[in-house]
Amino acid sequence: MDVLRIQGGSPLNGTIQVSGSKNASLPMFAAALLSEEPTTLTNVPNLSDIRFMAQIIEHLGARVNQKDPTTWEIHAPSISTKAPYDLVRKMRASICLIGPLIGRMHQAEISLPGGCVIGQRPIDLHLKGLRKIGCEMKTESGYIYIDGKQRRGSHIFLGGRHGSTVLGTANLIMVACLTPGTTCIESAACEPEIVDLCRMLVAMGANIEGIGSHTLTINGVEKLHGCHHRVIPDRIEAGTYLIAGAMTGGTLKVQGAEIRQLGALHDKLLEANVKLNIIDDQNIEVFGVQSQLKPIDLITLPYPGFPTDLQAQMCALMTSTPGLSIITERIYPSRFMHVPELQRMGANIALEGASAIIHGEAPLFGAPVMASDLRASAALVLAGLTATKESWVQRIYHLDRGYENMETKLQSVGANIERLKQDGIPESCLN
Ligand code: EPZ
Repeated sequence: MDVLRIQGGSPLNGTIQVSGSKNASLPMFAAALLSEEPTTLTNVPNLSDIRFMAQIIEHLGARVNQKDPTTWEIHAPSISTKAPYDLVRKMRASICLIGPLIGRMHQAEISLPGGCVIGQRPIDLHLKGLRKIGCEMKTESGYIYIDGKQRRGSHIFLGGRHGSTVLGTANLIMVACLTPGTTCIESAACEPEIVDLCRMLVAMGANIEGIGSHTLTINGVEKLHGCHHRVIPDRIEAGTYLIAGAMTGGTLKVQGAEIRQLGALHDKLLEANVKLNIIDDQNIEVFGVQSQLKPIDLITLPYPGFPTDLQAQMCALMTSTPGLSIITERIYPSRFMHVPELQRMGANIALEGASAIIHGEAPLFGAPVMASDLRASAALVLAGLTATKESWVQRIYHLDRGYENMETKLQSVGANIERLKQDGIPESCLN
């Protein structure tokens, strides 16, 4: 396993280019199965989750060709309807295969997704929506068997205890596109990744109204054709680097992001007195002046609220921001695996239910830390960039799931960071 060695204290100066969105790309790989014709996706990020999703749809019968690092062609003249446990368990996002299996094949046999370190990952809302349009289902031995032959357009309310469901919305949109009649999805997720999926489906011939709103009306069609679609930039990657720039000093330009998708982060960074310069719709500069930062009170919410996927990174920023900050997690209340590791670096954080109470103090000190999930690992890298002395971030395969070449991008703007093979690391540097 690889380890990142980080020597903190280097300001970040220069430009980081944002890659395509992981969370837009994954449901799009599934959506490509809705048609017998080939689909080409461009600006796909070069990530292990993407390669894994490609393996899963190949297992289902699709022909997948990576034409270059960010371009994939998917052609599925026929597909099987069983997504096996040993594949689904490795990546929860594969649950979005329900959509094309039911939409195109009218049946699915899919392993129930396993647990997850960031918290409960139920699919009750996905199944509620499928039942509302007439799907029948049963659960047996860890698999769910869904029969969609009798499905008909209907009205679905998709709101849950934590708001809507992103991949649940994706699944139900994909099914509804090929379901006879009109399906109305109320309290649908309206994350930019869902908007991008809808745009791809419309390019394939789907009939979807209300795109970008919480109420979608989908008129089922007979068939969908292939398409050529460019994936939107990754707003979470962009936000991660903006927070890194705020933490490390220097002047960092984040290039290629859709700034209007970062409204909640922009608002919170301004509240923290971070200096930002919006150059244009796709480029923003951050000036890291750590000494002037102010504490914040932050709550994660469904889009357009503050994204849960940037919560851990904001915790890292606030650990060395003087004052008392409160960060509350409304989407995954136990998504604080990064906190014990930040505490190893000297952070003064107390967990109180779904809130992290952060007393921002002196800079963190470097330490060997353990990544536990994708966004927690990003938070540990950011902490390492500002900590005194060396930090060693282990299990960075978590990071590789969602950040393309993070250490290379950071090195290019002056960070003292390198990727090493774990077996070459002195025991004293690891925990
Ligand atoms: C997507 O996951 C993202 N993943 C997650 O990003 C992101 O954190 C999440 O949306 C929330 O924005 C991808 O898009 C691949 P949800 P998803 O269904 O769709 C509850 C990352 O770091 N819920 O919107 O699986 C659920 O427990 C990943 O890139 C139900 O109660 O999330 C959670 O509390 C992590 N019943 C909330 O809703 C359901 O049937 C949001 O979950 C489904 C979800």
